[in-house]
Parts: sequence; C-alpha cells; structure tokens
Amino acid sequence: MMGCKDYFDQVASQWDAMRETFFSDRVRDKAIAAAGVRKGEVAADIGAGSGFVTEGLLREGLKVIAVDQSQAMLGEMRKKFSLADGVDYCCAGVEDLPISDESVDHVFGNMILHHVDSPPGALREWARILKPGGKLVITDMYEHSHEFLREEHHDRWMGFEGEHVRQWLTEAGFSRVMVDSVGENCCAQSDCGSESVEIRLFVAMGEKT
Ligand SMILES: C[S@@+](CC[C@H](N)C(=O)[O-])C[C@H]1O[C@@H](n2cnc3c(N)ncnc32)[C@H](O)[C@@H]1O
Repeated sequence: MMGCKDYFDQVASQWDAMRETFFSDRVRDKAIAAAGVRKGEVAADIGAGSGFVTEGLLREGLKVIAVDQSQAMLGEMRKKFSLADGVDYCCAGVEDLPISDESVDHVFGNMILHHVDSPPGALREWARILKPGGKLVITDMYEHSHEFLREEHHDRWMGFEGEHVRQWLTEAGFSRVMVDSVGENCCAQSDCGSESVEIRLFVAMGEKT
C-alpha cells in the first residue's frame, strides 16, 4: 500500500492546482498576519510541500527553511523559486528536524499537523527550534468525520479539537496561545465523487517563552 511520502511524491507536480481546490490564499494570509513577521527574519515552513507558505514569506522579505520529506515536492519548489534567494531546502521528517535549537524567528505549518504521528510531540519539536519570543503558527482542520481523507489523502488524524491544540501548545511551553477559526474551509471531494465536504479550518498561534 502507498504511504504518505509516496503519495506526496506522486502528486507533487499537480499539488498547486490541487491545493487551490482545497483552500484559498487567505489561509496563508491569516497565518502570516498572526505571526507579525518582519523583513530579514528567518522562518521554518514545516511540511512545506511545493511552497505555498514559503512563497508568502519570501514576499514579506523573510529567509525560509522549507522542510519536507518529499524530494518531489521540494523539486517543484526549487523550480518555482529558482530566481529567489533566501530558501534553504531541507529534505527531512518534521518530527525530528535537522535544525539547531533556538535558531528561527517563526515556525509555520499549514496542513501538516494532521499528518504527524504525534501532534503534541511534533509541537514540542517545532518549539525547540524557535528563539525565545518566536512565534509558531499552525493552520489545519477542525475535527471531522470524513474517513475518505485518510484513505485517499493519507491523513493520519481526522482534524483536531481546538481545545486539544490549545492544551498541547501550552504544554509545549508556549504563552499567548490563541486558537481561532480561519473563517475558511477545506473543500475536498472523494475520488468516486460520492462525498463532497467542507471542513472548517483553524489558526493556532503561540509565542515561545
Ligand atoms: C497537505 S501537504 C501541505 C503542503 C503545504 N504546507 C501546503 O500548504 O500546500 C503536506 C506536506 O507535508 C509533507 N509531510 C507529511 N508528513 C511529513 C513528515 N512526517 N515529515 C516531513 N514532511 C511530511 C508532505 O510531503 C506534504 O508535502
């Protein structure tokens, strides 16, 4: 059976078009606004895919460490940003990052939390690389019951309760924790076309103490 990495390798060249059908640029805009980024800062884009969040951060003048386990996704990003300075492409698992402690100003993760084995463990790992005062911003799906997303999109978790995310962030050492609706949905259709769903998205933010 195909695993998560193989799945994203396979869809990498179509991911930008797929992503546009799932959710809009406003998700990225909300995430970047929540962090309050400044030109010249360094951010990690966790589960960066083909560079959806990275693109917005480059536009704001940040340097980005783009982390993904799919070489094909990173390859798409390299093509897209071939003329841009400031992207460090990092092929790695997001639950054990080859990034030094307290080395980045911001960590972003759009639609990656539902893929990791241990969400609380991943949040602790992402906290590790943040400088004190640095911001973590996660955007993902609220809890849902659409099983086909596990089978067809290799999702590990069927979204999250906002209260759980808030608790994990607090336990991972974040202060000023905020979990709120993005006001946008993730829209997906099952391969057989029998299910068409809209799942509410949340934005979660914490500041490393
Ligand atoms: C749903 S896509 C989101 C991509 C991008 N953040 C976006 O918004 O378009 C999830 C990405 O996370 C990557 N991924 C999933 N699990 C991973 C893991 N354990 N380690 C590293 N990357 C992972 C996949 O290869 C894929 O590119």
